Amino acid sequence: MRIFLTGGAGYIGSHTLLEVLSHDHEVCVYDDFSNSAPEALARVSHLTNRSFDTVEGDILDRNGIKQALVDFRPDVVVHFAGKKAVGESMAEPLMYYRNNVDGTLSLLEGMNAAGCSRIVFSSSATVYGEPEYLPYDEAHPRAPTNPYGMTKYMVELILNDWCSANAQNTAVLLRYFNPVGAHDSGEIGEDPDDIPNNLMPFVSQVAVGRREKLQVFGDDYDTADGTGVRDYIHVVDLAKAHAAAIGYAETHYGCEAINVGAGQGSSVLEVVRAFEAASGQPVPYEVVARRSGDIAAFYADPAKAKNLLGWQTERGLADMCKSAWNWQRKNPQGYKG
Ligand code: UD1
Repeated sequence: MRIFLTGGAGYIGSHTLLEVLSHDHEVCVYDDFSNSAPEALARVSHLTNRSFDTVEGDILDRNGIKQALVDFRPDVVVHFAGKKAVGESMAEPLMYYRNNVDGTLSLLEGMNAAGCSRIVFSSSATVYGEPEYLPYDEAHPRAPTNPYGMTKYMVELILNDWCSANAQNTAVLLRYFNPVGAHDSGEIGEDPDDIPNNLMPFVSQVAVGRREKLQVFGDDYDTADGTGVRDYIHVVDLAKAHAAAIGYAETHYGCEAINVGAGQGSSVLEVVRAFEAASGQPVPYEVVARRSGDIAAFYADPAKAKNLLGWQTERGLADMCKSAWNWQRKNPQGYKG
């Protein structure tokens, strides 16, 4: 099949690109490199010994994205491109709505013009908001608590309407839990531009000596050790979920939301200990106040992914930490190193 990846050079995009190329699909990556590096694409090409098309472009460029889609004529689009920092979305909400919502409208208009009727969308468990029950299943009410989460929810609604309007259209909404880790080669991985917001990249930068210590945001939650619990998922498992979703989109119509998680949580201190064991490095930390907006614990009910996609996670926390460390150790300054 012909697969078009928006944001294909980013963290999840590059791992999915590698997976999709190993399935012998023809690929076009559309990326503006605003939070990613062309070097990631060069490394994927080297690792897979495959070439693919690359178009440098912004999803807000309506004519540019339309032309790229009309030229490539994809069977399926996988849409990663978007902004993803919660704090930034609270400071700059309009930028988030413009990029994530308007960008998706341009993409869908371009797909209509190119005759492409199938999309796999990077959604997030953040659409659920404060848990009314756990684990979250896909029917859990959606109540995002910040503009970033609202953009994911709004795009889900738009895709639902796009599918209702045309019985030939297909949208698979993958609701990611907490993706971490890196490809086993250590050649591609997560490369935050700034101070990392998320736990795992911060822990790896502490272990490699780039930062002095981790701040643990609260140890008085109602969890076993008092620290926050999340459903971490290895990025290679996540990439495989995309490959399965592409296969599903090929043979089904309509809009389906699917959780992509392991179904079990780990606490911040469990992650710290697992990382120390995997890296052999100390990860000093101090406990500070809770981060505003954080939830004590959440994790997925992953049954639907197994039933519809035949997919489930295969890699555990030790493997997530080992691969994140391998990437960090080989690339202490990320792709710039
Ligand atoms: C965050 C976002 C979420 C987004 C996801 C992307 C918030 C409130 N939520 O999720 O919307 O979809 O990233 O991956 O930002 N922690 C520390 N110290 C740190 C960093 C994190 O103790 O320096 C703790 C947090 O309090 C939390 C856990 O580690 O308990 C995981 O945090 P993080 O990696 O930021 O993910 P989420 O908050 O789950």
